[in-house]
Amino acid sequence: MKYVLVTGGAGYIGSYICKLFYDKGYIPVTFDNLSLGNKWSVKWGPLEVGELCSENDLQKLFEKYNFMGVIHLAALSNVSESVNNPSIYYKNNVIGSYNLIEKMIKFNVKNIVFSSTAAVYGNPIHSPICENHPTQPINPYGDSKLTIEKLICNYSKCHELNFVILRYFNVSGSDFSNNLGEAHLPETHLIPLALEAAHQNTIFKIYGDNYQTTDGTCIRDYIHVKDLGNVHLLSFEKLNSSKVNQIINVGGGKGYTVYEIIKYVKKITNLDLKTDVIKRRKGDPDILVSDISMSKNILSWEPEYSDVEQVISDSWEWYKYYKTLSQS
Ligand SMILES: NC(=O)c1ccc[n+]([C@@H]2O[C@H](COP(=O)([O-])OP(=O)(O)OC[C@H]3O[C@@H](n4cnc5c(N)ncnc54)[C@H](O)[C@@H]3O)[C@@H](O)[C@H]2O)c1
Repeated sequence: MKYVLVTGGAGYIGSYICKLFYDKGYIPVTFDNLSLGNKWSVKWGPLEVGELCSENDLQKLFEKYNFMGVIHLAALSNVSESVNNPSIYYKNNVIGSYNLIEKMIKFNVKNIVFSSTAAVYGNPIHSPICENHPTQPINPYGDSKLTIEKLICNYSKCHELNFVILRYFNVSGSDFSNNLGEAHLPETHLIPLALEAAHQNTIFKIYGDNYQTTDGTCIRDYIHVKDLGNVHLLSFEKLNSSKVNQIINVGGGKGYTVYEIIKYVKKITNLDLKTDVIKRRKGDPDILVSDISMSKNILSWEPEYSDVEQVISDSWEWYKYYKTLSQS
């Protein structure tokens, strides 16, 4: 049996990855504490409810399945929350990952694809950002991910641990035809929040318009969840045929300001979107745009779905479906 452990498989990105891996003949085993994930989204492969911070839960999991490898997504990832409460970020993300990697070594599971983030770069000194850009995270979330990256890199030097570390930029979009999309509670991501405000006729908050960008609002790079899923599949398959041990950015390769996203949200929903500029949040860099040449060179990957209008349009389809479902 081709078992693949997907930590955080009940979450937004993990549930899509499970579907993709299942379609390719793997059996994705979701390991999730359901603190943020949804049971209904685990439809492809078994769900093992458990906690990464519990060595015992992990021991039972690794005794039960003979994993080919691990896709490690489970984490807390709310930047503002991490600024206000760093300890839960270091505990959940770093200690949880340490426990997982120790178990991989104990059970001789050699391959890991790890979900990192562009937040490891902090405030970029040049853009687009390539992988050898200095890493100076400006919030505990980014720092917790960077610590895990270092742990994986250092362990791989003295254990048989092969890795691909993927530094995601902003993930959005959905696989609405399979009823999968973002269902975070609370939602903190820009596109679903803007769609919600447009649909509910509420005011969309813009956190600062005095950044060093073309229109003063933050610039971000959006990648469609389907493109991100493909990167995981390519990374995992490459790990099974060779020793990769690479850190790779994953983004759409283009940046959009908040005002530009608002413009597209209005166009796609055909609704008005009222906005209000409020003060900056702590820990938000001005601009995060990915140089994606490494993913092209190493994985022969090109974004297929990450045109920003398609990203927003697929998020909108999902939003309407999920809204109807949650109201019925
Ligand atoms: N969504 C984005 O735009 C984005 C950008 C960069 C990086 N990432 C990273 O991608 C990963 C997945 O993001 P997502 O948006 O799908 O998040 P999500 O919150 O939807 O999913 C995370 C899942 O992990 C589970 N989890 C968290 N801590 C756990 C623990 N200690 N033990 C077991 N399960 C635990 C949660 O219950 C949840 O189901 C995260 O690691 C995140 O940091 C996401």
